[in-house]
Amino acid sequence: MFASSSIVVLSLLSFLAQVSAIPAAPKNTTLNAPRKIGKRCTGEIQSLSDVAAAEECTTIVIGGFTVPAGETFSLNPPDGAQVSLTGELTFGFKNWAGPLMEITGNDITFNGGGHDLNGQGTLYWDGQGISGGVTKPDPLLRINMGGTFSNVQVVNSPGRAVAIGGSSLTDTNPCTHHPAAGTAANSASGGKPAGANTDGFDVSANDVTITGCTVNNQDDCLAINKGTSITFSNNVCEGIGHGISIGSITSGVTVSGVTISGNTVTGTPSDRARLYYSVNGLRIKTDATATGSVVENVVYENNVVSGITEFGVLIDQSYPSTLGTPGTGVVIEASRSFAQNVSFEGTNTVSVASSAHAVEVNCGSTSSCTGTWNWSGLKASGGSGSTIKNAPVTGETL
Ligand SMILES: *[C@@H]1O[C@H](CO)[C@@H](O)[C@H](O)[C@H]1NC(C)=O
Ligand SMILES: *[C@@H]1O[C@H](CO)[C@@H](O)[C@H](O)[C@H]1NC(C)=O
Ligand SMILES: *[C@@H]1O[C@H](CO)[C@@H](O)[C@H](O)[C@H]1NC(C)=O
Repeated sequence: MFASSSIVVLSLLSFLAQVSAIPAAPKNTTLNAPRKIGKRCTGEIQSLSDVAAAEECTTIVIGGFTVPAGETFSLNPPDGAQVSLTGELTFGFKNWAGPLMEITGNDITFNGGGHDLNGQGTLYWDGQGISGGVTKPDPLLRINMGGTFSNVQVVNSPGRAVAIGGSSLTDTNPCTHHPAAGTAANSASGGKPAGANTDGFDVSANDVTITGCTVNNQDDCLAINKGTSITFSNNVCEGIGHGISIGSITSGVTVSGVTISGNTVTGTPSDRARLYYSVNGLRIKTDATATGSVVENVVYENNVVSGITEFGVLIDQSYPSTLGTPGTGVVIEASRSFAQNVSFEGTNTVSVASSAHAVEVNCGSTSSCTGTWNWSGLKASGGSGSTIKNAPVTGETL
């Protein structure tokens, strides 16, 4: 317990340090939620039966309690509401689909006070994730709100931790942490890590900023499925994770304007002497069969990636196979590019284990990866070889 607590403190400190660095950019925090006018009152929530009355109020205080098994804690505060958490929320155990908690609304300020959302993942984990084994509630937290979500520790999610959805305008700073319990095997996982598909953040939304968080998990630290104007900055991704990922991209999807800046991807948690490895560092992956999709204007800036066992940087158009036969259907059927303008700015250092690949790019044709790919800000080292296929990469140090 001491070890996991110390990571929590670190992530809080980095979050606090981050606050003053966030520019006070004007935000459009109205999203697709219907407008909802609240009353000037304080609503207190100590159990799910308090929710309906409390969510009429523009100030909402949530105490610590156990959410009954098999029920979603669903909260829809009025526009502009201030919501605070004053204790730990624990979600009762049941094999069901979830989600365990969801919040919807416009211009909401949610302050978790550093408290936990505890999914009790250890009761579910069997090494098979959300598509196999026992049914696991997923995700633990769905954020469909505009505004700011901060200072929360998501602990031991049965499946994915936080899903950010809706065509929303959202600025969010949850800090996610999965203690190493999910990294060790258990009696049901056949020697594999017990936790699986415990994604830190899944994003399918516009105008999202995630900053100053620590994610210790067994899958993607960040997975962007679609959206525009997404910033992932100054986060730490650690444990046996899959790093920072765009994709996998399916058909008819746009990802535009992504900044991945100042993050650390490392296999070795800061508080533990034992060496773990992260599987991947920075990835963009598109389904080989995808059509009409585009990934454009992606900037990687000043990230540090180390201790990687498979790929430091992987841009691959052949998902679900890795470095297989890539698709070109995106270009042929929609005359748009798979990927346009992917750059490495500042200094990104990527170092990988000897058996790993530092950099692999696998584009279907030169017309499916286009524009400016200035990689002068990438310094990659280690590994057994790097290949760049059909992409106009310039300036990299491999
Ligand atoms: C804010 O976003 C909403 C939803 O996309 C949009 O309808 C509205 O026009 C935007 N407001 C401003 C001021 O940009
Ligand atoms: C890609 O970058 C070039 C400049 O390098 C710019 O002209 C072009 O508009 C960019 N593409 C997109 C989709 O923004
Ligand atoms: C790539 O970016 C670097 C750093 O910003 C710049 O100095 C260099 O001129 C760029 N290269 C090309 C080919 O645009």
